[in-house]
Amino acid sequence: MSGSNIGIDAFRFDGKRALVLGGASGMGAAAAEILRDIGAEVIVLDIQDIDLPGVKVVHGDLRERQSIDDALAQVGGPIDALLCAAGVADDTPGIEKANFIGHRHVIDSLFASGSLPRGSAIAMISSVAGLGWEAQLPRLKEYLDTPDFDAASAWVQANPDTATYGWSKQAICAYVQRQAYEFLRRGVRINSIQPGPTDTPLARAHAETWLGFAQDYRDDTGIQAATPAQQAYPLVFLCSAAASNLTGINIINDAGYVSSGFTGSYDAPAIRMMLGLEG
Ligand SMILES: NC(=O)c1ccc[n+]([C@@H]2O[C@H](COP(=O)([O-])OP(=O)(O)OC[C@H]3O[C@@H](n4cnc5c(N)ncnc54)[C@H](O)[C@@H]3O)[C@@H](O)[C@H]2O)c1
Repeated sequence: MSGSNIGIDAFRFDGKRALVLGGASGMGAAAAEILRDIGAEVIVLDIQDIDLPGVKVVHGDLRERQSIDDALAQVGGPIDALLCAAGVADDTPGIEKANFIGHRHVIDSLFASGSLPRGSAIAMISSVAGLGWEAQLPRLKEYLDTPDFDAASAWVQANPDTATYGWSKQAICAYVQRQAYEFLRRGVRINSIQPGPTDTPLARAHAETWLGFAQDYRDDTGIQAATPAQQAYPLVFLCSAAASNLTGINIINDAGYVSSGFTGSYDAPAIRMMLGLEG
């Protein structure tokens, strides 16, 4: 964007349509509310309901290909901003589909129907749990090479150790970085955020592991777990024209815990382990 075009409107979504997968709760719901308030027409695709005035809800289950296809037929196009915010925790049947394969199917379907116009953007939610994905890249590529929903599901069935939360989030990180070039040729950007502990219904349901993570760091720095809005604002930003040169990036949004653990300015053995660092 050059001189005379600079302005706050680049952060707004007037006249744009946004689709939020998993927008009925937590970070996705916060993103839907923000998007509505800054001008977007917002559609939420979720298995749950949300009562958010001005936001349309379309029911769909990201674990079922047909359910996604039926939902997308109701959503229509174009989609200027696609936010992939649905997710479930370890030990949930179909986790690989709810967390990644279903989202990828939505992206592929929107491209196939010409519903992602040039200038549109995709923002996914990975996790700090996706750290260390680079070391897994050869195997992740094998997974990402699966051409479609059914092939990816079959791959996970054949590789049952990958039906995990961590793998699904590593897959998002690798997918984002790997697809940036191809999507940009079609005028579409793709990024993700990697949240640290965030106070949502999902995290509360797994409070000991999810909200216990990095508690020492938060106590030391005098902060709380993130709010859903603290994740949603950057997610929305990534889809805005203000981020038009950003693509292929996974933004760690964890109040600096990973950075501090990586550089050793804070003692975070879990981070060093996830990053494959010694000691
Ligand atoms: N809360 C955290 O601490 C944390 C940390 C890192 C990453 N994340 C990720 O953030 C994202 C948002 O999670 P959240 O914490 O806001 O949880 P949440 O449970 O509040 O929201 C997740 C939404 O996804 C929907 N969903 C789940 N399975 C679905 C399916 N099969 N089809 C359609 N919709 C489905 C749920 O109904 C819900 O509305 C998830 O991808 C999660 O893995 C969360």
